[in-house]
Amino acid sequence: MLQRILDYAHFLLEDSVHPGDVVLDGTAGNGHDTLFLSQLVGNNGEVLSFDIQEQAILSTEQKINENNVKNITLIQDSHDKLKNYIPEPSTRLGGAIFNLGYLPGSDKSVVTKPDTTLTAIQDTLDLLKPQGLLVLVVYHGHPGGQDEKEALLKYLSKLEQKEYSVLRYGFVNQANNPPFILAIEKK
Ligand SMILES: C[S@@+](CC[C@H](N)C(=O)[O-])C[C@H]1O[C@@H](n2cnc3c(N)ncnc32)[C@H](O)[C@@H]1O
Repeated sequence: MLQRILDYAHFLLEDSVHPGDVVLDGTAGNGHDTLFLSQLVGNNGEVLSFDIQEQAILSTEQKINENNVKNITLIQDSHDKLKNYIPEPSTRLGGAIFNLGYLPGSDKSVVTKPDTTLTAIQDTLDLLKPQGLLVLVVYHGHPGGQDEKEALLKYLSKLEQKEYSVLRYGFVNQANNPPFILAIEKK
């Protein structure tokens, strides 16, 4: 069976993230991906989880407390400031996910934006370990979503083939701007 978008995003991470890794959730939202990453890296790993919006931080914090996990650092800031929060200059990321768009059930005017998203992606790729994977879940049906989608496709299609493999996964016969995945593997 073909996997749904979010299942496939997790499948990709499951295959590439290892216990003990430092990993990144660039858009914590309601904390689903953060918690998933926390389980993959285990007690010896760490999840750095960003969101610009207080409501998302609170929602993720609640999930962390309910699940009693200790390996997550929550950061209320924009993901394009990622490099300011990397614990040591030598830190390399074992994997990362950005679930783009707005927080479901919340203020739809707070959305990820092309400029900050591209800076954050560039910084994440710099910090990624060889064979590490950056997974983007691209929602683009909201105002501004189309611009972000186009900026991403333009930027990623120009990444050097010798250094990165870029995958696109999505359903072409779904109505209403279905989300799709862009996954970038550092060689
Ligand atoms: C689609 S939601 C993320 C869903 C989340 N991954 C989950 O598992 O629930 C997108 C999130 O990106 C956040 N966001 C928007 N711009 C951001 C930025 N510049 N830096 C970090 N987070 C941002 C929004 O506040 C929102 O919570």
